[in-house]
Amino acid sequence: MIEFRKNDLYIENVKLSDIAKEYGTSIYVYSKQRIVNNFENYKKAMSLKDGLICFACKTNSSGAILKILADLGAGADTTSGGEIYRCLKVGFNPSKIVYAGVGKSAEEIEYALKSKIFMFNVESFEELDVIDKIAGNLKIKANIAFRINPHVNPDTHSYIVTGKKGTKFGIPYEDAVKAYLTAKRKKNISVVGIHFHIGSQILEVKPFVVAAKKIKKIVDEVERNGMQISYIDCGGGLGIKYEKHEKVPSPKCLMSEIFSVFDKNKKFIFEPGRSIIGNAGHLLAKVLYRKMSGGKNFLITDAGMNDLIRPTLYDAYHEIVPVKKTNVKKVGSNVVGPICESGDFIGKDRMLPTIGQDKYLLVTCTGAYGAAMASEYNSRPLLAEVLVDGKQAKLIRKRASYEDLMLNEIL
Ligand code: LLP
Repeated sequence: MIEFRKNDLYIENVKLSDIAKEYGTSIYVYSKQRIVNNFENYKKAMSLKDGLICFACKTNSSGAILKILADLGAGADTTSGGEIYRCLKVGFNPSKIVYAGVGKSAEEIEYALKSKIFMFNVESFEELDVIDKIAGNLKIKANIAFRINPHVNPDTHSYIVTGKKGTKFGIPYEDAVKAYLTAKRKKNISVVGIHFHIGSQILEVKPFVVAAKKIKKIVDEVERNGMQISYIDCGGGLGIKYEKHEKVPSPKCLMSEIFSVFDKNKKFIFEPGRSIIGNAGHLLAKVLYRKMSGGKNFLITDAGMNDLIRPTLYDAYHEIVPVKKTNVKKVGSNVVGPICESGDFIGKDRMLPTIGQDKYLLVTCTGAYGAAMASEYNSRPLLAEVLVDGKQAKLIRKRASYEDLMLNEIL
């Protein structure tokens, strides 16, 4: 949904330089149509199966983005009381909300139960005890799945591998059946499913299938013990194309391979995040200054690591494109932000035209884990966000002010 028309880069039918002029930079910009298309792809791939597509709202929890997905009938994969709150506020049906996370507090569990969410993805025996106790106090039964760590190691950045042996996530594979037998004895627990999520930005189907086959073994054994596992929650993790050479499996390809592992009567939950919003959002920044230092060419922009931490944290690659075509010659450039750390970079060694002050750059495919992971480090107010729908650009988050920075502080 971004393309050059003549010399200008557009998102849907809006010129990116117009957004920069009207709303200022740096700024996150999203394409509504791209979000809808990405979600519809998942829905179509699911069509013959019963189940839920739960948007992983940790990826992007802006209210207006969540609302698009709620209106499309998506469920939500949440990871905190705050995310459940946001989802309820924008109109997600609580019966489509699942809740994972290794450290759910008692307050969060109580809030989730009172909100009548669909299911807890339970990650430890002790968490099971706490959910059982709180559900008992509220005189309700809690629907649960156990998040099982299938001990597979997908090829992705080590910080975002979650299905490998020895990570903090889920119930260790060898304890899975014991967990279900324990749950069977709990008065206030109702077992409805099984969950696995092996990691993020995964570009092959194979590790998902390996994990699914291991999970199937647990399902069979648990069902031989007289329990019914209706929902197979396969987590998220499908990657997107950040670099030109990358190839990405489609949701249909991933899902049909997983479906074929399990019995026909099973219902499925998928929790895509990045593959829904990643390529629908971009960070628009302005070049503030240029300098040469140590033989390197630097473009200093008004977007820093506080606005987009992915390059710093995961060495992530985001393509950077000037929003106006130019014939100026390209040179190897480091695109950096204004933060006082050498780790503050957006892209290193990029062949970019030596565009000057006040020109705009688009840091592409930053819709996932961009705005959601932003901070106010260096006392930089959180960015504005704009949603484009056809010819219209709408502000969906105001740029924070200096006053906002000190809002909750007590002097
Ligand atoms: N379900 C669970 C339980 C998860 O933990 C996650 C992501 C998802 C679903 C969604 O995964 P996705 O479809 O987006 O890959 N901040 C990192 C990624 C962290 C992923 C955390 N869990 C990054 O910027 O690459």
